[in-house]
Amino acid sequence: MPQERDIEERIERLLSQMTLAEKIGQLNQVPNSQNLDHDSIRAGSVGSVLCATNPTAGNVAQERVFASYLNELQHLAVEESRLGIPLLFGRDVIHGHRTVAPIPLGQACAWDPGLVERASADAAREARADGLNWTFTPMLDIARDPRWGRIAEGYGEDPFLASQMARSAVRGLQGSDLSDPQRIAACAKHYVGYGAAEGGRDYNTTEITPATLRNVYLPPFKAAVEAGVASVMSAFHEIGGIPSTANRHLLREVLKNEWGFEGMVVSDWASVDELVQHGVAEDRAQAARLALEAGLDMDMVSEVYIQELASLVERGAVGEELLDDAVRRVLRLKLRLGLFERPYTDEALARTVHLRDDHRRNALELAKASVVLLSNREDLLPLPVRGKTLGVFGSMSDVQSQLFGTWTLDGQKDDVVSIVSAMRERFGRVEHAVLADDCVSRARFCDVVVAVVGESPGRSGEDNSTQSLELPPGQQTFLEALAAVGKPLVVVVVAGRPLAIEWIMDHADAVVWAFHPGGEGGTAIASILVGESSPSGRLPVTFPRSVGQVPLYYSHKSTGRPDPPAGRYIDGSDQPLLPFGFGLAYTRFGYSRLEIEGGDRLRCAASVRNTGDRPGEEVVQLYVRDLVGSITRPAKELRGFEKVALDPGEEKVVSFELGEEDLGFYLPDERFVVEPGRFLLWIGPNAKEGLEGSFEYREGRFHPGDPVPHR
Ligand code: GLC
Repeated sequence: MPQERDIEERIERLLSQMTLAEKIGQLNQVPNSQNLDHDSIRAGSVGSVLCATNPTAGNVAQERVFASYLNELQHLAVEESRLGIPLLFGRDVIHGHRTVAPIPLGQACAWDPGLVERASADAAREARADGLNWTFTPMLDIARDPRWGRIAEGYGEDPFLASQMARSAVRGLQGSDLSDPQRIAACAKHYVGYGAAEGGRDYNTTEITPATLRNVYLPPFKAAVEAGVASVMSAFHEIGGIPSTANRHLLREVLKNEWGFEGMVVSDWASVDELVQHGVAEDRAQAARLALEAGLDMDMVSEVYIQELASLVERGAVGEELLDDAVRRVLRLKLRLGLFERPYTDEALARTVHLRDDHRRNALELAKASVVLLSNREDLLPLPVRGKTLGVFGSMSDVQSQLFGTWTLDGQKDDVVSIVSAMRERFGRVEHAVLADDCVSRARFCDVVVAVVGESPGRSGEDNSTQSLELPPGQQTFLEALAAVGKPLVVVVVAGRPLAIEWIMDHADAVVWAFHPGGEGGTAIASILVGESSPSGRLPVTFPRSVGQVPLYYSHKSTGRPDPPAGRYIDGSDQPLLPFGFGLAYTRFGYSRLEIEGGDRLRCAASVRNTGDRPGEEVVQLYVRDLVGSITRPAKELRGFEKVALDPGEEKVVSFELGEEDLGFYLPDERFVVEPGRFLLWIGPNAKEGLEGSFEYREGRFHPGDPVPHR
């Protein structure tokens, strides 16, 4: 990577040569529609091209990008503009480029930062080979409302898990040297609290207190900034009356000043202009001023900056030093990417990089690890592949591109093996049908029936929120008809969000869950159904019984009346169908011997044993509860996890360490505090179960409490 000092000197030299118009041009990102105005690039009025042609690019496959076309555009900027400042080419490479990994919510099910890092590095390598040098991922929005379609794009409900994923994604995408032609600039989005939209309706109002913002929604972004993320994207929504794109406190005071973020802040699609629709700006000129003063550096496609900033600066309504700060951040990113030295992409590279064997292996491994076994009565799974007739039925059983999931712009259908095709590769006799009546009639001749249902990608993702969590129309009736045939029934659900699947859990003999598993998903699911691989996924989000329970998440507060029946529904359960962290294996695990050691830091450990007759992987989870605080504290908070592989009968001691930083939290005045007191801790398989212990923290030291009998 070019030396930082050298970069800063080059920024100042460039800035001193730039006209006002050229400075503003660097803050202008245009969409990559085919009728791109080449003269605006020659004039230095474009700083970046967004390779997407519509506002919700992620919902439909986009025109492919090719290095040859982007090299042409780059040539206009580098060879034909006055200062030759290269362009940033951004695209939503959200969970893979040509090799498509599971959607981020699926990746989080793996609880495996290493796998996420590898898949992210593969995505960067493939995207950069196509000439892209900036991607708008990782999406770090904590989501606790499955009605919200974009829950698919994030890492679930928990800030600790999402923070681990954030670090992995940034490391994988950016590596340690952004000028490496196999890396790409990442973008932590959507800053911040976008997932708290009222009613789960996208873009909707949020009311988030400063303490909740700091303790729940900001941590993954802080983790991304600490990992060196190159950019941050402001979100569409408002928090308590202030749209994120004009939120000076969050952008300039927290992100840039308190956290020392030196990267660049880009708005979300046209959200600078949307300050007028929000009703905080009279017109686009005021929108430009509010956004720039708030710390918003680059205007994504609304052209407000390019049209309004010059006159604002010329008449002194906006200080040129604010403009210069934004331009410095854009130039810094371009210099760190090495674009001045190497603006063009080797056009032959993509052919050797896309769908590389190791990329597909990594995507397959991550897809397998993302599959969650939710039930398995009498160990029906894995299916015996010989001597049986298997039925594979249902609307998702033979789909290909629908396995990609939302926000897949460059995956190609023909790269995908469907679930039924993958089963046919493994199973002797496979009956298959999609039409419900055909499925039911054929099921009679099968020994085991696998029903594959769920959501098409178009039902989640941006601006695809649902007011129901039921299966899509017709699928429940289909499942009931299939169950009535009376054969052993395995239900595989492929979806972009948690669904209300209580009937499936009650009536199927086994349930397998996959958040859109990506291009290798068919192979991954088949491999698990027949036992080539063992399921090891764990839920990164709580599954409610019904939409009426939403929002429902494990790290809820105690309230003043925690004991039933106070505070419960009178017409149904208040308990989740499946808890955060839940998932089964083809074996069983036993926990014993919780140990807690005190001192400057706390060490806790438990023995985990594979008590079954098959190898398996367990995600051992550590939760902590602060019993008394200056403000109310969650009933549980994830503070560690480790995925361990155990052979039958094998036992491992899994240990965790806690420091005072793990006990701290933010107060309403946004001060971070660590308070003495008593704490509980659990080491177990999910947010609902575990060996319980206690400890005290006082005068800077940890003191173990008495272990609580395993109940
Ligand atoms: C979209 C999305 C954002 C995406 C951007 C560019 O509207 O909100 O996540 O990165 O625009 O496509």
